[in-house]
Amino acid sequence: MRTLAGDGPLRAARAARLSLGPPGRARIRLRSRHAGQGVLVPDSPPIVDLRSDTVTRPTPAMRRAMAEAEVGDDVFGDDPTVQALERRVAGLAGREAGLFVPSGTMGNQLAVMSQTSPGDEVLLEQECHIFRYEQGGVAANAGCLAHLIPSERGAVDPRTIEALPAAGDDDHVARLRLLCLENTHNRHGGAIVPLARLSELAAAARARGMRVHLDGARLWNASVASGVPIADYAATADTVMMCFSKALGAPVGSILVGDAATIRSARRHRKRLGGAMRQVGILAAACLYALDHHVARLDQDHRRARDLAAGLGAAAGVRVVAPETNIVLVELEHPALDPQALLAALERRGVRLVRFGARRLRAITHLDVDDAGVERAIAALRGAVAERLAAAAV
Ligand SMILES: Cc1ncc(COP(=O)(O)O)c(C=O)c1O
Repeated sequence: MRTLAGDGPLRAARAARLSLGPPGRARIRLRSRHAGQGVLVPDSPPIVDLRSDTVTRPTPAMRRAMAEAEVGDDVFGDDPTVQALERRVAGLAGREAGLFVPSGTMGNQLAVMSQTSPGDEVLLEQECHIFRYEQGGVAANAGCLAHLIPSERGAVDPRTIEALPAAGDDDHVARLRLLCLENTHNRHGGAIVPLARLSELAAAARARGMRVHLDGARLWNASVASGVPIADYAATADTVMMCFSKALGAPVGSILVGDAATIRSARRHRKRLGGAMRQVGILAAACLYALDHHVARLDQDHRRARDLAAGLGAAAGVRVVAPETNIVLVELEHPALDPQALLAALERRGVRLVRFGARRLRAITHLDVDDAGVERAIAALRGAVAERLAAAAV
């Protein structure tokens, strides 16, 4: 046991009860009850954090790639690592150009801003991230109307679009300009929208003069699970946004791909929003590393999600939606299962999920969750549920 009195950062970590070192790998945590004694002790097993696949931390090898990245001022077009990433993903998606952006939200917003004018109407699948979780950006950033359409697990029925009035020249009505779809679909539990459906929807939208944007924050998961290449999915849309900071484990970064003129326009809007960055090859290097090392392994996350679903589904009082990729939705059917109380009971057992609806919890498997973590999560949820049902029965 090492004594660490006098080490400032460690003392601060101790006070905050932070873990040191990457998760899922050997690490040491500091217990607050030893604060002031200068003692480092092994703690309980790390938290199994299933709240999102955004919680991953860069691996040591990814950090090395970042440290060694060749960089330049990307606003002057000088960063070779960013350019390599943009070229590579545009190529992977079979598109002319790519634009590196800080977040998926910015990528989606730029797609809307660069393919519409204020007053236009945007068709959005009603549970999509762009509508639900981007603070009304379609209205606030692009000045557009949001027209919501229903779907079956993210797959819109093409007849919904075919039933819309054809593009005309009526000065009274807003122009339908853009259809936005999401694949995999977050709120529908990582459901994959089939390629054939995307193609039909794109054809229906284009027949009405609309362009198509695909929110592919987790298109990597869809591609690995279905075997459909990214380029085939991307061919069904004019622009595609993909994230590196979720399934792939990079700390920051998303990309928007499309034709050269649209990406040029998105680049201008990115500057206006303050999303143009300087020596940002450090971040692009993490994304390139993730493409090389963290895509093929996504099938492990999917297998673990299935294991998790099978284990959680065996608990009384809950219903688990069979996952197609890495997202598991847990419906709390028994009235005694209060979502907040259950989350708190899970936290006490070292497992984190997130509330995802009035009576729904979400768990996502990712790079930093191994088989042991899945087993701990199953045991924790079963224990917490049994405890609450027993309390309700007395
Ligand atoms: C489907 C989808 N699109 C977009 C985003 C936004 O990504 P970011 O958090 O990087 O803004 C998310 C985030 O979880 C998402 O799930």
